[in-house]
Amino acid sequence: MESATRKLWAKQDRHQGDRLRLFTAVAGVVDATRVLYPGSFVDIAPSFVFPSVTYVDVDRRAERFFADTDGAEEIIAANVTDDRPRSVTFLHQDYRDDLDLPEQSFDLLISLYAGFISEHCTRYLRIGGRLLVNSSHGDAAMASIDPRCELIAVITSRDDRYRVDATDLDTYLIPKKSRAITAELLHELGHGIAYTRSPFAYLFRRVH
Ligand SMILES: C[S@@+](CC[C@H](N)C(=O)[O-])C[C@H]1O[C@@H](n2cnc3c(N)ncnc32)[C@H](O)[C@@H]1O
Repeated sequence: MESATRKLWAKQDRHQGDRLRLFTAVAGVVDATRVLYPGSFVDIAPSFVFPSVTYVDVDRRAERFFADTDGAEEIIAANVTDDRPRSVTFLHQDYRDDLDLPEQSFDLLISLYAGFISEHCTRYLRIGGRLLVNSSHGDAAMASIDPRCELIAVITSRDDRYRVDATDLDTYLIPKKSRAITAELLHELGHGIAYTRSPFAYLFRRVH
């Protein structure tokens, strides 16, 4: 493995095993084969638990990381949780552009700290597929007002453990400051909404 690949992964995985724990918790409730991860940077952890992952990022370091296929395979092999074959694809693209991927073809769309992915990429998610999204860049709020998406669970994080919780869902996504959430407002703000409860992330199901 090229040392640049090793270094980038070590930095990404500085809370060792954190993303493995996250995606293991998600895989416990989401039976996904095809996963799309726009704005992934070098977070290759979904490939530890899901068979086929398409990563998308504009960053040159991410492009170089995934171009080192031996290095990427080594990282996956050291962390993989089952013996299914893995398929890893990297698109060095802006996820707001047409990704030339079939619409409604992915089982899981991941949106973590990388902008309004749900707005641009939900079209690639099949009806019934899942969106894993956090609130830091406003994308959870964007999903919450998207008629294609329905909240089905939250992911909580405590003592280094992730848990999927599908109870009391009506107590989440309540803004601290009472105001109408619109796409225009979210674009204007450029950051997430402060909610009365703050789980690590949310799981939505695509319903339309
Ligand atoms: C803060 S990092 C988060 C990386 C990863 N999702 C994680 O949680 O560790 C945000 C990444 O999103 C990428 N990104 C932001 N906007 C993008 C866009 N429009 N198209 C593709 N990649 C984008 C950046 O290049 C960067 O690598």
